[in-house]
Amino acid sequence: MTIVNGYEQSDNERPLKIVNLPALEKDAQKIIPKGGFGYIVGGAEDDWTLRQNTQAFTHAQIVPKALSNIEQPSTATSVFGIDLKTPIMMAPVAAQGLAHAKGEVDTAQGVAAVGGLMSQSTYSSTSIADTAAAGHGAPQFFQLYMSKDWTFNYALLDEAKKAGVKAIILTVDATVDGYREADIVNDFQFPIPMANLEKFSEGAGKGQGIGEIYAAAAQKIGPDDVRRIAAHTDLPVIVKGIESVEDALLAIGAGAAGIYVSNHGGRQLNGGPASFDVLPAIAKAVNHRVPIIFDSGVRRGSHVFKALAAGADLVAIGRPAVYGLALGGAQGVQSVFEALNHELEITMQLAGTKTIADVKQAPLTHFNYAD
Ligand code: FNR
Ligand code: LAC
Repeated sequence: MTIVNGYEQSDNERPLKIVNLPALEKDAQKIIPKGGFGYIVGGAEDDWTLRQNTQAFTHAQIVPKALSNIEQPSTATSVFGIDLKTPIMMAPVAAQGLAHAKGEVDTAQGVAAVGGLMSQSTYSSTSIADTAAAGHGAPQFFQLYMSKDWTFNYALLDEAKKAGVKAIILTVDATVDGYREADIVNDFQFPIPMANLEKFSEGAGKGQGIGEIYAAAAQKIGPDDVRRIAAHTDLPVIVKGIESVEDALLAIGAGAAGIYVSNHGGRQLNGGPASFDVLPAIAKAVNHRVPIIFDSGVRRGSHVFKALAAGADLVAIGRPAVYGLALGGAQGVQSVFEALNHELEITMQLAGTKTIADVKQAPLTHFNYAD
């Protein structure tokens, strides 16, 4: 255990024996201090949308093709020109120092070990360069929280490019913080500075709540901001937090090279639809013009399968990876991805799909979701 500013950080480094991802939450709760755990596990208001996210995967079923004559399915895929061993990627998650002393550096190592795609947050505990270096050349995306200060925005974009990231994720669903009741009850303030804020602006986030940090970011984001970011960087810009066909088309019209369907894991607009329920309509409207990343509530290999079959090209996880980080550091994160990918392989075999391309064509039935 490492103590920083009175906050106890895990320094576990070990592989995990995982039965399933949902069970990790209780184990992680024993390790992560109350305030940090509340911030990680919590959604907005009464967590209704958070709960709907995972529940929504029951809204569609996989139609198996038993006589498909396949064996040894492969989870390898290629998206944005990047070859990956799994379509499961790391969602951008802030302040991973709340879970482990090594934070995003260990997460990057764990994701690299499985041949997956890492993404790092503007509000990361470790610097862009350190997090990128930890992946030893494995692909990473940088997620930008757009500041009101464009000098800051450009500095982050340039720093990320220099560090070798392959794309920028622009998050647009968090212009203010969702009503995070766990943080209110715990009077939670970040005990650990955020490396990028420390380097580029005052405050660094330490001693602040997420609301104050968001207040320094932009409260309004429109298509012109997507254009401005895309004009500044020659990296692909993926717009994260899309839950409507209208926003997906606006983002593509503004030059987005990817659409990231997400409701922030239920942490932002409570009362919005489950992310999986809006994926099919968005995928139909995007019509393969750009890749789609999907997240929010993914806990099972069959969830990954259904998201791919419903139109996603990559499927991201947030909380389960952070729990693995707390429990086992880089090896813990690796164990989480391996466990989820193993469930995906079983689902692929039983559904009669040998490749991820086959999964993307797989029929789902009884789809009852929001149009
Ligand atoms: C997040 N998420 C997030 N998203 C983002 O664009 N930038 C960020 O800095 C963060 N930070 C963050 C912190 C914590 C503790 C959580 C749990 C989530 C949202 C994240 O990228 C993703 O959308 C959700 O985590 C996906 O839902 P699950 O897998 O956590 O249920
Ligand atoms: C959150 C922000 C940091 O969800 O994205 O807490």
